[in-house]
Amino acid sequence: MKEKILSMLKSRPDYISGQDICNRLGVSRTAVWKNINALRAEGYQIDSVNNRGYKLLEEPDRIDGERIYPYLHTQWLGRRIVYEDEMDSTNIQAKRLGEENAAEGTVVITEHQTAGRGRRGKGWISPVGVNCYFSVLLRPDVLMERASMITLVAALSLAKAVSKTAGLDTMIKWPNDVVANGKKICGILTESSTDMEYINYAVVGIGVNLNQTEFPDEIKDMATSIFLETGNKVNRAELLAAFLNTYERYYEIFLETEDLSRLADEYNFLLVNRGREVKLVEKDQERIYTAVGIDKLGRLVVEDKAGRRETVISGEVSVRGLYGYV
Ligand code: BTN
Repeated sequence: MKEKILSMLKSRPDYISGQDICNRLGVSRTAVWKNINALRAEGYQIDSVNNRGYKLLEEPDRIDGERIYPYLHTQWLGRRIVYEDEMDSTNIQAKRLGEENAAEGTVVITEHQTAGRGRRGKGWISPVGVNCYFSVLLRPDVLMERASMITLVAALSLAKAVSKTAGLDTMIKWPNDVVANGKKICGILTESSTDMEYINYAVVGIGVNLNQTEFPDEIKDMATSIFLETGNKVNRAELLAAFLNTYERYYEIFLETEDLSRLADEYNFLLVNRGREVKLVEKDQERIYTAVGIDKLGRLVVEDKAGRRETVISGEVSVRGLYGYV
């Protein structure tokens, strides 16, 4: 009954009387009143005025399928959205769906992760109601060694989506952190299941800081949000859909060539370290190079002082700016 009342409220730009709702649904005034209160508890702002009835003022800022589909223009990516208010980790749940043969393009979204995972075994803190935490299930028909490129394609797509929906220019810190003004606004963790040298499925897990207003002391010099950079709150569903719209297109381009030959220029244009000195950190060793850009396999090409070039594979070394995070 709650859903029916909600759709009546949504279809009316003006007030609808309580009696009108009762008549149409064949229920009592008390039942209507209880359901209106249940909707209010879910975050719907509903005005009530004597002799006029109820009017929907604002919907809650949620990131479930119902909010995302109106912005989604994809053929297959995000056509199945699995949303829950709370999960351990969207990556864990997407991997479970991967094992259960869920379709490519399934997207898992939550409002709150109790065990959000970051790279290098770290956690990912997931405050409620402000950010996006989601994972995309893919089944790329490519060799395992090519799988890391889908993460770079995701970073590129996310940067484009942020610029389109929030008007914020972001850059990419190789391989896949999206940064704004030198601080991270998005992290991506890809986990895959392989069979021999092929991929059964890959889960691309993305955490975007959208409307978060403060960060814990230990990360506040490295992390920021779209809100902190622009002063504007972002519609989370719109941003998530914009990402999926872009990612479907770029992922298909990647699949055609099974490399980044048609995307590397766009990626390099956004590469924050391009032409700058970077420190490559490998075990205890640190070496200084100039970053040139990525090649068609997504490796970072760097140059030493004598002009000798080397390629760096993601995951094997970490790249830092000389004076800070980027
Ligand atoms: C990083 O360390 O930069 C990667 C962070 C990835 C976090 C996202 S949030 C949604 C998805 N689920 C997880 O448990 N992790 C990823």
